Amino acid sequence: MPSRLAVLVSGRGSNLQAIIEHFDNLARERVAKVVLVASNRAESPALIRAATASIDIAQFNAADDGSELLGLLRKFRIDLVVLAGYLKRIQPAVINEYAGRIVNIHPALLPAFGGEGMYGARVHEAVIASGAKETGVTVHLVDDEYDRGPIVAQWRVPVNQGDTAESLAARVLAVEHVVYPRAVEMVAILQQIESKRTD
Ligand code: GAR
Repeated sequence: MPSRLAVLVSGRGSNLQAIIEHFDNLARERVAKVVLVASNRAESPALIRAATASIDIAQFNAADDGSELLGLLRKFRIDLVVLAGYLKRIQPAVINEYAGRIVNIHPALLPAFGGEGMYGARVHEAVIASGAKETGVTVHLVDDEYDRGPIVAQWRVPVNQGDTAESLAARVLAVEHVVYPRAVEMVAILQQIESKRTD
């Protein structure tokens, strides 16, 4: 049985799109399937991508104690939660119930250029201002601190002379689209092996 994924989004949803397409392309051999796309913002363009792909969508309150999100994850029998440009903190109750089963992508080489308030263009602006010669992509498990959980995958991306936050963001994003679906696939496979071992 494929793992049941929930993807949480706040914005554009290009990583969501890459994940949907990756698992669709694996067809019968796929190990996971996106069954829910949920957002704290009803106007998130990512929800339109999900609806176009005939995936269930939902909006939830990110400012409560986690009950609304947990209710959704239970209702859809979610195995793995994938954060794709989701910009709110995950509530402790959700982290407790889904410990080791929430993954995030960050557009830099963590632990550098991470932490509260570091998202989107701000990350790339900080990288350029620092004079760093390389940045990258990090996929990690989520714990109760922003951008701090165990790292699952990293990929380096060069910073070129004359880069702007926009040009660097585009180079990093192209790598995110390759790395994230494959890292999610790997986590889903490991989770399936682990759950068979403990059955
Ligand atoms: C991506 O670059 C992702 O790494 C970043 O937001 C963007 C979402 O784009 N996430 C963070 O900065 C988290 N700290 P998308 O909505 O097109 O996938």
